[in-house]
Parts: sequence; structure tokens; C-alpha cells
Amino acid sequence: MTQSPFHGGTAVITGAGSGLGASMVERFAAAGMNILALDIDGASAEDTAQKVRKDGGQAVAMRVDVANADELAAAARLAADRFGGCSVLCANVGVQQFGAIERLTEQDWQWVIDVNVMGVIRTVAAFLPLIRETSGERRIAITSSSGALMPGVRMAAYTASKYAVTGYSETLRMELAEEGIGVSTVFPAGMITRHLESSIKARPAELGPSELRQEDIEAMMASRDMDTTSHVATADHATRHLLADLAANERFIVTHGEYRQQLTDYCDAILRAHDRGQES
Ligand SMILES: NC(=O)c1ccc[n+]([C@@H]2O[C@H](COP(=O)([O-])OP(=O)(O)OC[C@H]3O[C@@H](n4cnc5c(N)ncnc54)[C@H](O)[C@@H]3O)[C@@H](O)[C@H]2O)c1
Repeated sequence: MTQSPFHGGTAVITGAGSGLGASMVERFAAAGMNILALDIDGASAEDTAQKVRKDGGQAVAMRVDVANADELAAAARLAADRFGGCSVLCANVGVQQFGAIERLTEQDWQWVIDVNVMGVIRTVAAFLPLIRETSGERRIAITSSSGALMPGVRMAAYTASKYAVTGYSETLRMELAEEGIGVSTVFPAGMITRHLESSIKARPAELGPSELRQEDIEAMMASRDMDTTSHVATADHATRHLLADLAANERFIVTHGEYRQQLTDYCDAILRAHDRGQES
């Protein structure tokens, strides 16, 4: 088996305590990378790191809230002190708040945008200087969502946040290309993770409780005409091509889910609008 181009490097993953982030950790550790596992739930980040150490790998965990730039700066110092660099950064944290547009509160919007958009921006800002100092292959993976390719009802704040990080990630890719730092946008479809539960837990108390109605989830699924058998998978399945895609510096990483028809309709609608714009 050929050695991974990331072997011996360091991977930093936010949201590493659960789901997609924890699975990313497993993949990077299996490729011989040192791991810095970050999560607002420090105990779950520690569990993830312990699993890596049990298998003979190098991993450190730290409790970090991506809403806090100082905590992210401390994490970047830890990566530098402990491992001497950062070759792969996964800005992976995202929280979900379902709700019809008229029910989403100012606090709901504030929280989702602060974590899903500003959290990604803060994470990259904290680690980019260290990534620049690191030799070898360097990559940044930004977790968006299939919701940014195939929007549905009752999750406007989440969908808007994932469109925003997609735009940020696309720009970052262009701006870092000359330096040889690859940037990929990851579009997971539905995954069997703790997303809803951990989102509720991570929401700051001062913003009030997070409302979760089953009817919103059902309406969202129906509006996207999803084939749930292909659209929902384990996080382990979703990361199966991650390292190969990052090594190839793929612009987009669609982890799973079959929604070619919805994508075709979406692209066709934009192209038709473009072509109408050419008419006199
Ligand atoms: N689960 C899905 O169906 C799905 C679908 C598409 C995209 N995604 C995206 O995938 C990413 C990972 O989600 P997941 O499904 O693995 O969820 P998860 O809840 O299993 O894992 C997310 C982790 O992020 C942590 N977290 C939450 N707020 C944080 C904060 N402020 N600072 C630091 N850590 C914080 C949680 O404690 C949790 O451990 C998210 O960006 C999510 O939006 C998930």
C-alpha cells in the first residue's frame, strides 16, 4: 500500500468529538497523522483522542468553542508546540436549528450564523499562519452541507449559513492557490450522527432553548424529494474518500447521497436565467 502524502503531518479537526469530525480523526490517524481534536464538548474530544492513542497514534484533545477566537488561538499554539505545524485543517463544526421562517428567532439566526459561518472564519484565521509555516502537503476542508446544493424548507438559517461558508470556502481556495494550500468544500448529505442532540446542547443558555419539532424535519425531507436510503449514511461511510479527495485537492467533496436530478434542475434554472440575461 502506498503511503499517504499526509503521513507524519498534523490534522486539526473541529467538532472532533462526534459524527463526521470523529470519523475524520480516525481516517487521518490511520494515515499516520498526529491529531489535535477540538470540540466544545471537551470530554467527547478526549474520547476521540484516546481512541487514537489506544491504536498507537498521537492525539491531543482540547475543549474549544469556535465562537471564541481566543480559545482557537490557544489551540493553534498547542498544535505548534506539540506537533510543530498543521498540515490539514478541518473546519467542520456546524449546528442545526430547524423552524419555519416566521418561527426562527433573531437568537436562532445569531447562533447559527455565529457558529456555522463566523466559527469557520475564526478557525481558519487562527490556524492559517501555522499552516503557512508548515512544510509538505497542506489542505483546508470546510464542511458545508447538501443543503447548500439542494435547499429544503424549515431550515433557512442553516441553509443560509451553509451557502455562506460555501462562498467563503470557494474564495479561500482561490486566494490560497498560489501558496499551494488546497481548499476543499465538503458537502455531506444526511448522516446518522448526534447533530440535533449536540446542537441543542451546544447552544449558549443566554440565547434561550432550541426548539425541535418533528413536523419541521418531515416537511424538510418532503420538500427535497429525497431518497432517504441513499441520502442518509454513517459518518464512516461519508469519509471513505476524504483523504484521496483532499490529496487530489478536489474543489468539491460530495460524500454521499444521490441527488443528481435536483442538481441538474438547479443548474439548468441558473443557466436559463443566465441566457435570458443575454437577451436584448
Ligand atoms: N448530520 C447530518 O445529517 C449533516 C448533514 C450535512 C452536513 N452536516 C454537517 O456536518 C458537520 C458535522 O456534523 P455532525 O453531523 O457530525 O454532528 P455532530 O453533532 O455529531 O458533531 C458535531 C460536533 O460539533 C460540536 N460543536 C457544536 N458546537 C460547537 C462549537 N460552538 N464549538 C466547537 N464544537 C462545537 C458538538 O459538540 C459535536 O461534537 C456540521 O458542519 C454539520 O452541519 C451534517
